[in-house]
Amino acid sequence: MKRNLALLMLLLACGSLWAGQVDFRTIPLPLSVNVDDTKSFALSTGMGVAYDASNPEIARNAQFLCTWVEEVTGIRLKLTPDDKHASVRLSIAPPRKTQKGVAAVPQDDEAYTLTVDAKGLAISAVKPVALFRAAQTLRKALPVSATPLNEVSLPFATVKDRPRFVYRGAHFDTARHFFSVDVIKRYIDMLALHGCNQLHWHLTEDQGWRFEVKALPELAKQGSVREQTVLGRNTGVFDGQRYGGYYTQEQCREIVNYAAERYVNVIPEIDLPGHMQGALHVYPNLGCTGGPYPVWQMWGVSQEVLCAGNPETLTFLKTVLGELCDVFPSKFIHIGGDECPKVRWKECPKCQAKIKELGLTADGKHSVENQLQAYINHEVEMYLASRGRDIIGWDEILEGGLTPGATVMSWRGVKGGVEAARQKHRVIMSPNDYCYIDHYQLKDPWKQPLGIGGYLPASKVYSFEPLQPGTLSDDEQQYILGAQVNLWTEYIASPEHVFYMLLPRLDAISEVQWCTPENKNFDDFKLRLQHMKQLYDNIGVKYCKDLE
Ligand code: ACM
Ligand code: ZN
Repeated sequence: MKRNLALLMLLLACGSLWAGQVDFRTIPLPLSVNVDDTKSFALSTGMGVAYDASNPEIARNAQFLCTWVEEVTGIRLKLTPDDKHASVRLSIAPPRKTQKGVAAVPQDDEAYTLTVDAKGLAISAVKPVALFRAAQTLRKALPVSATPLNEVSLPFATVKDRPRFVYRGAHFDTARHFFSVDVIKRYIDMLALHGCNQLHWHLTEDQGWRFEVKALPELAKQGSVREQTVLGRNTGVFDGQRYGGYYTQEQCREIVNYAAERYVNVIPEIDLPGHMQGALHVYPNLGCTGGPYPVWQMWGVSQEVLCAGNPETLTFLKTVLGELCDVFPSKFIHIGGDECPKVRWKECPKCQAKIKELGLTADGKHSVENQLQAYINHEVEMYLASRGRDIIGWDEILEGGLTPGATVMSWRGVKGGVEAARQKHRVIMSPNDYCYIDHYQLKDPWKQPLGIGGYLPASKVYSFEPLQPGTLSDDEQQYILGAQVNLWTEYIASPEHVFYMLLPRLDAISEVQWCTPENKNFDDFKLRLQHMKQLYDNIGVKYCKDLE
């Protein structure tokens, strides 16, 4: 009996050993981690978490912390608001003051300090958002245990952190393939886990319109459904299956709220004036030829686009964008602007009449058709400004001349971003050669599901430098807001495939977004990723197990 007991004790001890050590060197890597391994504090079930209960936002973050600690380790903390002697304490510190008593600038809302000492674990930040970031760091630092633990030994530590960039995004195309609200929430969970703060939600495409517009009820109802889908890479063979789905405004609001609680802003994209065949199917009068236009069944770039000479086009766009603004509070609205072929406009009497009316002339840099697109952008920009919003467009919006408030999302390399920064426009870097995570992540295509092609290993994502030093001056670099990975879904139809493509390349971009270049090291990242994989297994999310 005694021998059995000893064996059991040994097994339990091994269980906690197997669970691993606490390691604050998480992904993304905090700005500084100082650890004194010679001293420790035992975090154990039943300990209290103190916070300011009068602030529901802080209370929510305290609850997140408890949930995550339990998920990872099994340790059950309890909420004990306003208990000064609690072992875990979340506090909001006043912003640092300058000598004159003015708040120090720039004040970093997302900076936090996490300390472990004899009194326990304390997190201090200027804003609740940073308490959330710190709680995520704790979640990632704790050992993942298959069996519930009662206690984990935390080494004395001081962790300081703050993000490098204000814009830390990931894009998700739910138009080529449709994904449920639940999948989008899981996507948001992954962004939040990695400290990303922007979900760029691609909602409309040639292959399907996925946003409900109440004033135009047929738009999503009919525009979201394609009769069939081409097999493989435009083989000419089709699957014969109707495919569709759209998000009601109520569902969009649910996603916005879910994301906001996790400090992720949702930027909706209505891609215009190209990538509109889903809408043209329902409103063929808005196309240059009058249609008919089936919701597209192939991949690629359709030459059927909105007619820029038809005044109804702007009425349509304002109706759509008006309802979009009702649903999405984001300051930024993405208006697409990429890949808008001009074949139809060149031959369309209405488009050509509009060019004349506007007095557009080719100036060697901008064709008249590109300037016509800039005219549409400007109208849309002014409308959105009247709703208090700013536009983002893909880098093609440079081709007709940038409208005054436009932010450029650079995707055809960094060239467009560099040019926009030089023109003193804000920029988000998501160049296809570093940030297109629809590309293969392993060299061997047979090791992974069919994809669009290309090769973007996590190591290359990791190596991206958004500021382009050497090309941009210090002053120009100020316009680079941050970086984003993009997940296009022509060849991605299942949630498992989504997360396989996302992880671990989201880990890689998160260090681009958070860490200074001096703090980045791919070999070290590789070691730290082992722990993230345990966490993914714990959460039950798919990821690519190989790393190149
Ligand atoms: C894009 O990839 N067409 C922005
Ligand atoms: Zn036209």
